[in-house]
Amino acid sequence: MSTKQRGLIDPSTVFTAGISNGEFGLPDHMIPVMARGEGCRLWDRDGKEYLDFSMGWGSCLVGHARPEVVEAVMMQAPMGSNFAYLNEHVLELATEIQRVSPAARRLRFCASGTEATMYCQRIARGFTGKNKILKFEGAYHGANEAGVTSLFASGKVPFPTPELTSAGTPFAAESLLVAPYNDLDAVTEIITEHSGTIAAVLAEPLQRCTPPKPGFLEGLRRVCDEQGVLLIFDEVVTGFRLAYGGAQEYYGVVPDLVAYGKALGGGYPIGVFGGREDIMEMVNEHRIGGDDYVWMASTLGGNPISTAAAAATLSVFRQDGTYTRLHHLGEYLRTGLRGVLRDHQLTAQVIGDGPLAQIVFSSDPVFDYRSTKKGDSAKGRAMMLGLFERGVFLNPMGTKLYLSLAHDEAACDDLCDRVSDTLQLL
Ligand SMILES: Cc1ncc(COP(=O)(O)O)c(C=O)c1O
Repeated sequence: MSTKQRGLIDPSTVFTAGISNGEFGLPDHMIPVMARGEGCRLWDRDGKEYLDFSMGWGSCLVGHARPEVVEAVMMQAPMGSNFAYLNEHVLELATEIQRVSPAARRLRFCASGTEATMYCQRIARGFTGKNKILKFEGAYHGANEAGVTSLFASGKVPFPTPELTSAGTPFAAESLLVAPYNDLDAVTEIITEHSGTIAAVLAEPLQRCTPPKPGFLEGLRRVCDEQGVLLIFDEVVTGFRLAYGGAQEYYGVVPDLVAYGKALGGGYPIGVFGGREDIMEMVNEHRIGGDDYVWMASTLGGNPISTAAAAATLSVFRQDGTYTRLHHLGEYLRTGLRGVLRDHQLTAQVIGDGPLAQIVFSSDPVFDYRSTKKGDSAKGRAMMLGLFERGVFLNPMGTKLYLSLAHDEAACDDLCDRVSDTLQLL
């Protein structure tokens, strides 16, 4: 029976109402409508099961419908969903984040990673009185201007000129500078030349799935200090994922401002940003009306449902063995995928760290956006679409895979088998 005969809405007819279908770019006949998630699996409304390697774009690191998180939400839901004001959960959560995040001496809550990185940039501009943010080519920081500039870049524009990835961002060109990730000499040169106008360097410590070269983050910290530029870590992906203390703990580098989201919320909307006391003083509402006040407000920021979910999520992450397990699974998956690629005699490599993996169809070393871009992206997309058809849920736009605490070696083996079947046909 067709979708129409069953009285269901055909997703292709409401394309613009979709959430991610535009970005997923799936052919109409492949667009599922998801109904349920549990552990590392999803089911669509037709009952088809998917092995999930997107995990809500990494927000469900605890797994879908993790019982401790569900219970925390169910306890709070009957007592109200938003007061737009202090509540016990937000206090508990803030205290715990402060305990583990050396950068977050003071912090504020919002509802997404996009907001968190946006506020970090605004505060840096307000605090330093300088206008430019230096970002790295190919880095994503959410849907704000820095996030979507030089994102899917051509790789041909000379540094530090920004290249627009999104229309409607007229101020990006004059408010951003762009550098190659992992190239400390190039970054130092740009910062030194423009230090009078750069408020902050904004970095994903692990950019997408590309790890920092030894000494790169330490070097950034040093040059920022020398040149009076703030350092912002976008820990929306790395936070609570590479280690409980995120990239700060994992790489041992402390930024001036830090942004969190994704895994922290256990699948519920959350964003957090924090920093040094003197910098965060900029958002103190007692300053309203003065020219040293940075506006910050978020209707849903710190709501009791998201913060109860997040507090429960952190208590799961604190259980013994969490990070040993996540790192083991990541290594297991990357090794398994490498084996499959070798069996198929493909020119490809698997990059990533912790519970993250990405296949790049290139044999050249991958250390920044341009070297990643050398990979055969058409092959990558064909593989992702093939996997999607074989019941693996992932974002076919890229080739980044998110593991979770709900995955196990059997799930990784299952994915490797399906990758092998898919590659057979390519
Ligand atoms: C590194 C990074 N920063 C920020 C964001 C934006 O987070 P959100 O989608 O919650 O706004 C993302 C989202 O993918 C991200 O990967």
